[in-house]
Amino acid sequence: MTEQVKLEYQGKIFEFPVMRASTGEECIDIRELRAKTGLTTLDPGFGNTASCESGITYVNGEKGILRYRGLPIEIVAENMTFVETAWMLIYGRQPTLSEMKQFSQRLTNNELLHEGLLHHFDAFPANGQPMSILSAVVNSLICYSPEIMDTTNEEALRNAIAAIISKVRTIAAFSYRKAVGLPYVYPDPQRSYCDNFLHMMFSLPNKPHQPTEEAIKALNLFLLLHADHEQNCSTSTVRIVGSAETNLFSSVASGICALWGRLHGGANVAVFEMLQSLVQEKETVPQFIERVKKKEVRLMGFGHRVYKTFDPRAKVLKKAVLNLLDAEHVSDPLIEKAQELEQYALADDYFKERNLYPNVDFYSGIILRALKIPLNMYTVMFAIGRMPGWIAHWLEGNQGIRRLARPRQLYIGKTETKFVPLDLRMPE
Ligand code: CMC
Repeated sequence: MTEQVKLEYQGKIFEFPVMRASTGEECIDIRELRAKTGLTTLDPGFGNTASCESGITYVNGEKGILRYRGLPIEIVAENMTFVETAWMLIYGRQPTLSEMKQFSQRLTNNELLHEGLLHHFDAFPANGQPMSILSAVVNSLICYSPEIMDTTNEEALRNAIAAIISKVRTIAAFSYRKAVGLPYVYPDPQRSYCDNFLHMMFSLPNKPHQPTEEAIKALNLFLLLHADHEQNCSTSTVRIVGSAETNLFSSVASGICALWGRLHGGANVAVFEMLQSLVQEKETVPQFIERVKKKEVRLMGFGHRVYKTFDPRAKVLKKAVLNLLDAEHVSDPLIEKAQELEQYALADDYFKERNLYPNVDFYSGIILRALKIPLNMYTVMFAIGRMPGWIAHWLEGNQGIRRLARPRQLYIGKTETKFVPLDLRMPE
């Protein structure tokens, strides 16, 4: 029998069913709340609101668990490539070898940009923000794939999915090349996803770039660790935009815009800037932490809406950063500063009491720096990684009964006011 939650209001008792999760937190089903009671709920930031039922990613913030389609992130990180992870997130299970081959072929078939699109890069200023270029160009992909507007066309959808995952990497690399005044390097169909990206970023017409195995592995890891994280700000944005029957390209372009913010994907840039300023010894770690505690600044890369313990992605990334720097024989003062900062913060009561631990962004900038990715591309790299998650959520949101996302509000503005003719209005 379904358990019920009772709500007493104005002398009446109303009952609402509790919905069971396959694992994790359960929910009170309040779909009939307004109809039964005339009440709505207020939950700024949606900290207590499940916006949907989802079967893609499971996060347990108290225990530090993250699973993609049921598979623990540590196992995904150890055994899968980014492309394999992308397929699993989007299509719901671990792919077979032949499904992987087909998907890889589709990615290769879609890796080039329409030549018409290249003019977009010419029109942007050289110092244009890569995130705005990425969102604009991804959004304009729909102009070149109008067939995807027909949502019943399965083959067009499969192609559109591959096109986005493949082209987002080409767009990112081309925007970098344009910014630094280097010719575009076209994708090489012989190379794997991550190898190809590093080739498009760093090959010169007279000198092809061959990334090391460690670099390719590190990039795969970075991307797959960012591939999905259930109903975060950008993913919720994609689902909300998609709920209006907006096409896949435009929906994920809106996710790129949401990701840009410093409290979300933009945090990896903010962490880097913070570490850099500490390395330049403008301030010691204890002085900086004092300012954090006075709430003058935030310790970027710490804290999470869901995780109240270590973010499991941060653990995996930290280990990989240390391995990569070791393999490439690089010592980085930023990593030493990050470790000092982490140890200092974890021992401090301010952070203990609030359950603030390193999140995925704390170490991600260092891995990107080791890969020679420029700072203004850090959030773009997050966007490339998050693309499969956005696609999976857009698809899930469009399955079954689709409902236009349209929250309510608690109105606290003026009640009905009188109209005053323009020439009689006085300053308030
Ligand atoms: N530094 C210092 N204090 C913090 C921090 C931080 N990074 N994060 C939270 N707090 C404090 C906050 O001031 C508040 O203190 P008090 O109870 O005294 O008012 C308490 O902790 C609870 O904070 P909150 O703002 O209610 O927590 P939230 O769940 O709304 O915030 C967050 C989550 C990620 C926005 C926040 O922790 C933050 O700003 N972190 C720094 C930015 C960052 O690293 N973002 C990346 C998040 S992970 C990747 C992603 O989602 O893209």
